[in-house]
Amino acid sequence: MKIAIIGTGYVGLITGVGLAELGHSVVGVDENPEKIKLLERGVEPFYEPGLAELLKKNIKAKRISFTLDLTQAVNKTDYIFICVGTPPRQDGGADLSYLLRASRAIKKAARGPKMVIIKSTVPLGTNDRVEKILNSSGSAKFEVVSMPEFLREGKAVYDFFHPDRMVIGVTNPKAGARAGRLFGKNGARKVIVNRETGELIKYASNAFLATKISFINDIANLCERVKANVEQVAYGMGLDPRIAPAFLKAGLGYGGSCFPKDVKALVYIAKVLGYDFRMLKAVIAVNSAQRIIFAEKIKKYFGRLKGKKIAVLGLAFKGETDDLRESAAIDIAEYFAKQGAKVAAFDPKAMANAMKVLPKSVVFAKNEYEAIKNADALVIVTEWPQFAKLNLTKVKKLLNRPVIFDGKNLYDSEVMKKKGFKYFSVGRN
Ligand code: UGA
Repeated sequence: MKIAIIGTGYVGLITGVGLAELGHSVVGVDENPEKIKLLERGVEPFYEPGLAELLKKNIKAKRISFTLDLTQAVNKTDYIFICVGTPPRQDGGADLSYLLRASRAIKKAARGPKMVIIKSTVPLGTNDRVEKILNSSGSAKFEVVSMPEFLREGKAVYDFFHPDRMVIGVTNPKAGARAGRLFGKNGARKVIVNRETGELIKYASNAFLATKISFINDIANLCERVKANVEQVAYGMGLDPRIAPAFLKAGLGYGGSCFPKDVKALVYIAKVLGYDFRMLKAVIAVNSAQRIIFAEKIKKYFGRLKGKKIAVLGLAFKGETDDLRESAAIDIAEYFAKQGAKVAAFDPKAMANAMKVLPKSVVFAKNEYEAIKNADALVIVTEWPQFAKLNLTKVKKLLNRPVIFDGKNLYDSEVMKKKGFKYFSVGRN
């Protein structure tokens, strides 16, 4: 099939490259000329495991191309995916300006009927609103399908080919089946629903996962006040299939471009509908506090941080990505810098992005050991696999004092104690 993807951000690029790999002829459209230039050369604009290879392969096979010209892309294709950002507004609501602009541009450009599939995360009623724009006048009849995205950063390529479900919101189930077929036989269960239900499944899924995280972090904070171990609590809970083990990892709370934005947006959507979503407000409050509780624990240990050298390992909001959005690591590094500590930071992929946002006083190390050298404490804030495999003998030699604060519970407390570290983690004291 011939497919246009409007917006080559995270969702758009992975979807485009994935569909090309499945054999479709895909054109990616973006209004950022720099990005299009990069993509045309086969250079991915952000780090995502497996993306670079797939992008190059499909450009070479001429299954994917990129353009600034939306009109041409729309008219050469039958299926148009809208994958533009819906960033948060000040009031927590989603900013739909990119999406509405894209819809109007498609309407203006299209000379025939098309299927428009909305992958962007959008508030209830947005798909209907887009349909109204597209079918407001003229003969071209558009079919609008809500197909929210469930890809995880860092595992997005895998998730594209192995989705656990495909949510398809439609007014016409036949159109839903057509949209679903574009993704081939991927084994995913298709959930065909009306469009507002589709829109809500996306928000409810992210909000529920965020709720699990805040819940387990609250439990972790309780554990620290007694002799309980949050990991064992989570394990014991997760064996009950009604609870399930995923997303019960205590740590520094959720970050990234999705959970923080979507939870706030759902609170806002509820407010507009005259409903006070009290539980999600608590989820947000617990999440914002979690990173500060961790940073304050470190301050309390030292009394004052002024003049202390702190090695911060990890800056991205999670491992396997260079994305800093709503990253706990950034807030924590800033907290240390504000307290007068000398911060030496390292992240395998997110350093270039971090240099743009962290205070000038933060020093960026070439690797984890350079950051750790002569530090008064090692602070782990992102679960990069390599941080779970540090050479601990070397770490102990390099540190000024053998003190580790692990916000991601990457090591066994008993082992660390035996190795002579003062080791603090989350919910396992
Ligand atoms: C999330 C969802 O998992 C995807 O299904 C969804 O498509 C995506 O948002 C989106 O809406 O676009 P993502 O933001 O990439 O994906 O990251 P996750 O792996 O879900 O992690 C989110 C945050 O929760 C991270 O900061 C992670 O460290 C934290 N987390 C996750 C925990 O603190 N504990 C856990 O047990 C799991």
